[in-house]
Amino acid sequence: MKSEKEAVRETEEFYNSNSFDVPKQFKNKQEERFKKLKINFPETGKAIDVGAGSGRSSRALRKMRPNLDITCLDIAKKSIDRLKEFKRIHASALNIPFEDETFDVVISVGCLHHTPNAKKGFEECCRILKPGGILVIALYNKWTIYPILYKIGKRLPGFIKRKIKIPIVQDQFFTPHASFHSPKEVKEWFEQNGIEFKKLLGTGYITPYFPNKLCQFIYYYGIKKEHKEKQELQQSKHI
Ligand SMILES: C[S@@+](CC[C@H](N)C(=O)[O-])C[C@H]1O[C@@H](n2cnc3c(N)ncnc32)[C@H](O)[C@@H]1O
Repeated sequence: MKSEKEAVRETEEFYNSNSFDVPKQFKNKQEERFKKLKINFPETGKAIDVGAGSGRSSRALRKMRPNLDITCLDIAKKSIDRLKEFKRIHASALNIPFEDETFDVVISVGCLHHTPNAKKGFEECCRILKPGGILVIALYNKWTIYPILYKIGKRLPGFIKRKIKIPIVQDQFFTPHASFHSPKEVKEWFEQNGIEFKKLLGTGYITPYFPNKLCQFIYYYGIKKEHKEKQELQQSKHI
């Protein structure tokens, strides 16, 4: 079995050769999705887009909140180099080089399931989030036909994979690592990491958009709870 480091390096090489991009019709969907999730992003403060790739989430966020200070993080140097309009950092989602509680907003769309340990990446996102901060995560759903299609695509011979140069096809079927997570599992991660789950939204390229919990991707939105001591103090003040 590959070590975590080797698996991350393999994914890094893959996305350096196949910079992620989405078809035109999906390019401007992020703002609509954030609105459907009813996310109340702060007007100011710091935001990070973990696994920023094409930068579509960061662009939507900038459009909605022009005064947020946005940083894009990605393991693929080639991808991150395209995002010149933002602060950029070349790093892994499994080892985010920021102090605890740095950001007011943490977004990670379609990245963590490409790491060898999505739960660890999720914990990293929660660690760097300030109490009261907003978390938006999108992950592949376990309960669709897509995991089977991915396994078939991955087994295709190398010469076929190399011929198909369409970024979205590469990403969906030939990426070296993909994991699939049920809403129940992800909601448990929220609970374990002190994030209050707010709302989810299903999307996808392959499966229909309804019902939410059977979509290829699920966006999860939550808010980091205040520290226990602070909460207790606030509660005692109300007694
Ligand atoms: C499917 S793309 C999604 C990109 C972007 N969030 C979007 O929606 O356009 C996945 C991205 O995650 C990045 N990625 C994969 N593993 C990573 C890791 N361990 N750390 C940081 N980024 C990673 C890839 O380089 C790629 O840009």
